[in-house]
Amino acid sequence: MTPLRFIIVGLGARAQYWINVLQANADCRIVGLIDPLEANRTRAADQCPDAVTGADLTLIDHLQADAVLLCTPPAGREVQIEACCRAGLPILAEKPLADSVPRARDYVAMAESAGVPLMVVLNFRYLPVTRQTLRLFSDEVGQPAFSRFTYERWRDGYLPHLNKYPLTMQHPMLWEQSIHHFDLMRFVYGAEPVSIYARTFNPPWSMYADDANVSAIITFANGVITEYQGTWQGNWSVPGFEWRHDCAEGVVIQKDQFGSLGFARRAEDALTEVPLPAYRQWIDDASALLIRFVAALRGEGPLECSGRDHLHSLQMVEACIQSSRTGQAIQIADLMT
Ligand SMILES: NC(=O)c1ccc[n+]([C@@H]2O[C@H](COP(=O)([O-])OP(=O)(O)OC[C@H]3O[C@@H](n4cnc5c(N)ncnc54)[C@H](O)[C@@H]3O)[C@@H](O)[C@H]2O)c1
Repeated sequence: MTPLRFIIVGLGARAQYWINVLQANADCRIVGLIDPLEANRTRAADQCPDAVTGADLTLIDHLQADAVLLCTPPAGREVQIEACCRAGLPILAEKPLADSVPRARDYVAMAESAGVPLMVVLNFRYLPVTRQTLRLFSDEVGQPAFSRFTYERWRDGYLPHLNKYPLTMQHPMLWEQSIHHFDLMRFVYGAEPVSIYARTFNPPWSMYADDANVSAIITFANGVITEYQGTWQGNWSVPGFEWRHDCAEGVVIQKDQFGSLGFARRAEDALTEVPLPAYRQWIDDASALLIRFVAALRGEGPLECSGRDHLHSLQMVEACIQSSRTGQAIQIADLMT
């Protein structure tokens, strides 16, 4: 079958991974590269010598392509989505789709009315550890009733290989990082959130202009209650991660965001480790997601991680912001009106 021709818009840090992932997939070919920054265009052009490069979106109107991958910052994507819709090109957009729920809703509506598939890159869903967690619920310890999710990271936002816009944006932790965690919760619990009580804040040493810490209690429609703590300014360079699910017959505990999974029944005094396949971080998860995107475009499977589905995770971000501002628990249903 002819490979699908991709245009990549935004050639910064994240696109570096995507160039490798697309080039490794025989079903895909990179034909266009767009970025206003000359240095980033040149770097990507060196990696993809057959692709046409451009400084602006007019390339989307002129180049023969089958899909657009958006690796731009979430703010200001309106013209990019418009250009894709005008050209009738399916969109694979990096998370978060937008930096506000109303804007994300607009983008979803634009894509739907143009008949353009819109998938959001929620790569953590495709990790073996995530799939194995679902298997443990169904085969070993039963369905979860409550959980605790902690993500503690000293994220030095000045490191040269990291993007810089989170240093100055509003709620960088929520929009850029917690969005993954909220999406994972909805995915593994198979339920939508109904209410969120949250507090966001910035520790005194924070290098981020706005809140790098989030604490939240999230109630899902199936009764699961999750205590969440996330930070990009945990004051130790060694990262901490633990997601513990308390289930009908025991517990499931994940100790690393990319792996380290175990389970135990109530009376057992040690975790049984779950073997996971060898795994390349940021590569295999994106590769698996890309396979699903290609399958959806070829009519061989459903569109996963759709923009419309993603709105539910973005609403969790918005609920945390509103809850912290008002001091009240936020009912998700109230955000939908
Ligand atoms: N899924 C993941 O695990 C994951 C990981 C990292 C980043 N991301 C996401 O990827 C996206 C990009 O992040 P990044 O780290 O590459 O940021 P970055 O700042 O390193 O790169 C963004 C690039 O977009 C370019 N750009 C800005 N406006 C543009 C426009 N109008 N048209 C074309 N190009 C434009 C910039 O010049 C820059 O080269 C963000 O949404 C981020 O959240 C996702």
